[in-house]
Amino acid sequence: MESKKVSESRVEIAQIMYPEHANPAGNVHGGHILKLVDQAAAIAGARHTHRNVVTASVDRMDFISPAFIGNVIFAKASINYTGKTSMETGVRIEAECLKTGIHTHIGSAYLTFVALGENDKPTEIPQIIPETDEEKRRYEDAKKRRELRLQQAKKHRVVVQPCIVRSEKLK
Ligand SMILES: CC(C)(COP(=O)(O)OP(=O)(O)OC[C@H]1O[C@@H](n2cnc3c(N)ncnc32)[C@H](O)[C@@H]1OP(=O)(O)O)[C@@H](O)C(=O)NCCC(=O)NCCS
Repeated sequence: MESKKVSESRVEIAQIMYPEHANPAGNVHGGHILKLVDQAAAIAGARHTHRNVVTASVDRMDFISPAFIGNVIFAKASINYTGKTSMETGVRIEAECLKTGIHTHIGSAYLTFVALGENDKPTEIPQIIPETDEEKRRYEDAKKRRELRLQQAKKHRVVVQPCIVRSEKLK
């Protein structure tokens, strides 16, 4: 299977924030931002693998600045690291104020996606090629995070419920 460059799957989503994305005071809901984070990471994963990819885990995300109605939210996603069937994607969220042009860092998150193949089983994915110094640093950092994450996940591991099945129409 041919390896792929980070630049081949990089994603940037831009979305303007309307009242339905915010509370009555105009602050954008954290949940809406998390949805954009998940979407951007999912697109990057699907671009990299051309498979159905599902979220296996989301590392913690701190909201370090607020975003408001009228801001443009950017979700910038790129793949940091690949395992056999899973990949870590990093997503950076920024808010742009259209009056000033200032971009503010809202938060960043790391998500792990798994590619599914036949019978919805994890399937092998192309390896990522980090090219720039920054991509190489992210790759090494992600490798360390993966070890910690998997140790934590083991503690919470439960058997998948056999009653959870996909509708025939969606296959
Ligand atoms: C994610 C999922 C496919 C993993 O299935 P599994 O049978 O546990 O798979 P395996 O143990 O063979 O692991 C497959 C890969 O997932 C990784 N993985 C499994 N659980 C993980 C977790 N909690 N966090 C990060 N990675 C995880 C493994 O490290 C492995 O990666 P690798 O092949 O690169 O080494 C399965 O748990 C699942 O379907 N979960 C629901 C996903 C979903 O629907 N998400 C949307 C929200 S509901």
